[in-house]
Amino acid sequence: MSAAADSTPAAPRRGLPPLAGDGAILVTGGTGTTGRLLLSWLLDEAQATRVIAFSRDEQKHYDLLQDPNFQQPALYSMVGDIRDPRRLREAMEGVSLVLHTAAMKHVPIAEAHPSEAIRTNVEGTENIIRAARDAGVARVIAHSTDKAVEPGCVYGATKLAMEKLLVAADFDSGADGPRFDILRHGNLIGSRGSVIPMFLEQKKSGRLKVTDPEMTRFWIGHDSLISAVHQVLIDGRGGEIFVPKSPSARLGTLARAIAPEAVIEVIGVRPGEKMHESLTSREESNRIRQFESHLVITPPSTGHQRRQDGSPVGPEFRLQSHHGPLLDLPAMKALLKSENLTSGHQTARFDIQSTNL
Ligand SMILES: NC(=O)c1ccc[n+]([C@@H]2O[C@H](COP(=O)([O-])OP(=O)(O)OC[C@H]3O[C@@H](n4cnc5c(N)ncnc54)[C@H](OP(=O)(O)O)[C@@H]3O)[C@@H](O)[C@H]2O)c1
Repeated sequence: MSAAADSTPAAPRRGLPPLAGDGAILVTGGTGTTGRLLLSWLLDEAQATRVIAFSRDEQKHYDLLQDPNFQQPALYSMVGDIRDPRRLREAMEGVSLVLHTAAMKHVPIAEAHPSEAIRTNVEGTENIIRAARDAGVARVIAHSTDKAVEPGCVYGATKLAMEKLLVAADFDSGADGPRFDILRHGNLIGSRGSVIPMFLEQKKSGRLKVTDPEMTRFWIGHDSLISAVHQVLIDGRGGEIFVPKSPSARLGTLARAIAPEAVIEVIGVRPGEKMHESLTSREESNRIRQFESHLVITPPSTGHQRRQDGSPVGPEFRLQSHHGPLLDLPAMKALLKSENLTSGHQTARFDIQSTNL
């Protein structure tokens, strides 16, 4: 290594702020795509002393514990369902921070079984709120989606309800109760059951099924997601929705970036899907504070002390996936490459299930 390289300052470590008590952290959905990213960050980079991965399927827990990256004494794996208040209460014993990712997230599955999506995404969140209060948890940060903005599908509607529950819970907490904040973001690149692993799999047959090449989506990479969670952790003031600024791209661009030679079969937009997504609504525009890397949507209640940092946006402001610069083909390829998602062998990391666009 050269002297110049030696003197390059290391990237700032995304450490943890002081946490109450023993600093234990509960990650609901800890065996999912987002959950495992959070575990890696907490254990390897933030050096958390105790992290609990909470989810239902024992096989996912088994796989997690078999993974050499997760064979760490600070990690504890706990089988449980967020629909089960008693188990959640046990899981939160001695916990300071909850990172809530557990959800039903497949648009077509939630359309077909709305009551199940409500039980997990809405009632599960109510259980999280109650357990956090009972256990004296200091902070809860929940993952939401652009599909919660003016929702057109059951999944989005349940995540909107989740957001509203958390914002109201924060208001009810007063000065002493838990603080509840939300991270709302677009598609996580390469997440389980999403369009990128599906395209990578279909590429092998030479045919890609694309709902509509003109459909646009926001994309967020793994490292950007962790930075966004860290931002909420260090700056969230309760009842706030953080929205990282992320690039968007047409599905046709994504398809060509993944499989330039493949035949594109257009299958049409499916029930519940929108052509374009929004990360903010018009109704929220008067409560948005803009920062370089993200927006903060402050809570609607006048009882909240609204932040004055950042800058306001205009009343017509909306962050929409088809407005603003869209990633072109080289930029999309570069983004996939940066996520190590261009070669076929990566598909083995993901289960191919119904697609969530
Ligand atoms: N992926 C995206 O593109 C994206 C975009 C925006 C927002 N989000 C949000 O980010 C979060 C995580 O998404 P993801 O893509 O990482 O999902 P994922 O890979 O499907 O993981 C979901 C996790 O939740 C667990 N889970 C599901 N139902 C549960 C229940 N009732 N009780 C306990 N655990 C449960 C799953 O494990 P078991 O099934 O074994 O319980 C799994 O560990 C979700 O809240 C989603 O809405 C995702």
